[in-house]
Amino acid sequence: MSRENAIEKIKIDLKEEKRDYEIVIGGGLLDSLAEYIGRVYAGKKIFLVSDENVIKFYGDRIKGVLSGAGYSLISYVLPAGEEAKTSPYLKRGYDYLLEQNFSRDNLIVAFGGGVVGDLAGFLAATFMRGIPFVQIPTTLLAQVDSSVGGKTAINHPWGKNLIGAFYQPKMVIIDPELLRTLSTRELRTGLAEVLKYGFIVDRGLLEYLDSHREEIFNLETGPLSRIIHKSCNIKARIVREDEKEKGQRALLNFGHTIGHALEAVTDYKKYTHGEAIAIGMAAAAELSYRVSGLDREEVDYLKKLLSDYGLPLSCQHGENLDEVYERLFFDKKVQNDSLRWILLKELGEAYIDDRVDNKIVREVLEGIR
Ligand SMILES: NC(=O)c1ccc[n+]([C@@H]2O[C@H](COP(=O)([O-])OP(=O)(O)OC[C@H]3O[C@@H](n4cnc5c(N)ncnc54)[C@H](O)[C@@H]3O)[C@@H](O)[C@H]2O)c1
Repeated sequence: MSRENAIEKIKIDLKEEKRDYEIVIGGGLLDSLAEYIGRVYAGKKIFLVSDENVIKFYGDRIKGVLSGAGYSLISYVLPAGEEAKTSPYLKRGYDYLLEQNFSRDNLIVAFGGGVVGDLAGFLAATFMRGIPFVQIPTTLLAQVDSSVGGKTAINHPWGKNLIGAFYQPKMVIIDPELLRTLSTRELRTGLAEVLKYGFIVDRGLLEYLDSHREEIFNLETGPLSRIIHKSCNIKARIVREDEKEKGQRALLNFGHTIGHALEAVTDYKKYTHGEAIAIGMAAAAELSYRVSGLDREEVDYLKKLLSDYGLPLSCQHGENLDEVYERLFFDKKVQNDSLRWILLKELGEAYIDDRVDNKIVREVLEGIR
């Protein structure tokens, strides 16, 4: 990490050097966008992918900054929400890129939450076998999670993120001030991911979150930048070691096994991703208590942090737990009948366990009813 005027930088050095890139984090960075883009792109044409909410709040500003610096912008504005991460919007994107004569020498900029980043990233990965792209994430979830690590995807009627590619951006530019227009519910969903990083590898982050809750909810730039920086650093470190999720990257799925099942049985309509994984993390902590000796006080502390941050610990909509249980086995990570769990030995130390007795899983699920 290096500092220049409160701008934090994280270098992502992947195994092949040509794909190295930087994450830059700093309040007000949106106004210096042209300078950062100029570091990775020598051309002038930009395909700006965003969604209707983000454009409503920041469209004039981003267009002003980029046009003012001599870039010519073609905007592709998606409807807000998960519906945009589907093949019709992908196809429309290809059509538009072709109509506007884009080539591999041009740039795609993803300006939005995880939906925009995933779709624009997959568009970039596949258009003419790969066109450079830059991520400017605008939700906390995207700033701490989806914009880092190079996973891009769209959904298929059979499931989420089934069609996708690993494709790294040229740069990720994070401005925490963009979070000021985000709803509290969306902010919390990102905070669930930040808590997750603390639970799996960084107890110090948990202590920081515990003592700075008010500043974080007040959207103070310093504390927000700090938790974003810590989170990106953790994700970057894990991805650097295991880009294609052959081992340690799976730790990032803590809380996701049950979380994904809950999202799926409620058709992705009742919980935000963060709410579902919060319930999943509370359940995974109980499972850790049963199978890996996580202390009861640690389980309680994990749950206290989640609920202090306004996140749920149990089902909120009377889900049928038999259905949730069955759904666990649909997960991409299931091998034979054995679920792959990410569990905790202690707060800040996660490990992979694929030998948990399904009877215990069923009992723990009863606890989230
Ligand atoms: N690629 C990955 O590694 C990865 C990781 C986690 C999640 N994801 C994906 O990310 C998606 C979820 O991302 P998300 O939670 O950012 O959702 P999202 O992109 O749908 O954004 C949530 C809502 O916030 C609005 N919004 C975005 N920025 C805003 C701002 N600054 N001010 C006001 N409103 C704003 C959006 O319009 C939307 O309504 C899912 O599709 C998930 O699969 C991908």
